[in-house]
Amino acid sequence: MFSLNKLSPSITDMIRFDHSHVLVTFHQYTATSRPKVKKALAETICTALEIHATLEEEVFYPVIRNLNGQEPTIQKSVPEHNEMRRIIAELRAADPTTRRHDELMNELMRDVMHHVADEETVLLPEAERMLGKDKLDELGAEMTRRRMQLVAPKAGSIAKNTAVGFSGSTTAIVAGLAGAVVAAKLFSRRHANARHA
Ligand SMILES: [Fe+2]
Ligand SMILES: [Fe+2]
Repeated sequence: MFSLNKLSPSITDMIRFDHSHVLVTFHQYTATSRPKVKKALAETICTALEIHATLEEEVFYPVIRNLNGQEPTIQKSVPEHNEMRRIIAELRAADPTTRRHDELMNELMRDVMHHVADEETVLLPEAERMLGKDKLDELGAEMTRRRMQLVAPKAGSIAKNTAVGFSGSTTAIVAGLAGAVVAAKLFSRRHANARHA
């Protein structure tokens, strides 16, 4: 029987995966890139961050708040997401031939790196200490289901920007994580079945 729970990564691994892919894409943006490429990279990053922030707010943060609502890192998480959304709106409106576009991109990157460091050194280890593996996997499956709903209406523009910006592998940031992991697990299972046949 197909079970998303068994095929999804844990919620904490999924969050780390999203972070590292966004940071890799940030590093592909340079001041000398063509304006069309800059815009495509910016749009890919903005969409990935928006989806990631919504997923954390809906699926991950409520669990952390339940564990320890007084934790200062969780208290500033949503305000930091909102500040990120403000920069994203400005970046989307910016002209990629201007220096302002580069500045906003750098500002976004600085904020996101700081926020990601807090999550990876405080919130994710706390979740892993307090919740069992089954719960982390179950939340991972919930996040995958919600991600699919959020990605579906944007699939066309995600594909277009990915094609302009860089190699297809980076689609994993917004759309491909669940698909890639499920495919890898199905492949290894099929392999194991074949060996035992
Ligand atoms: Fe976050
Ligand atoms: Fe995050």
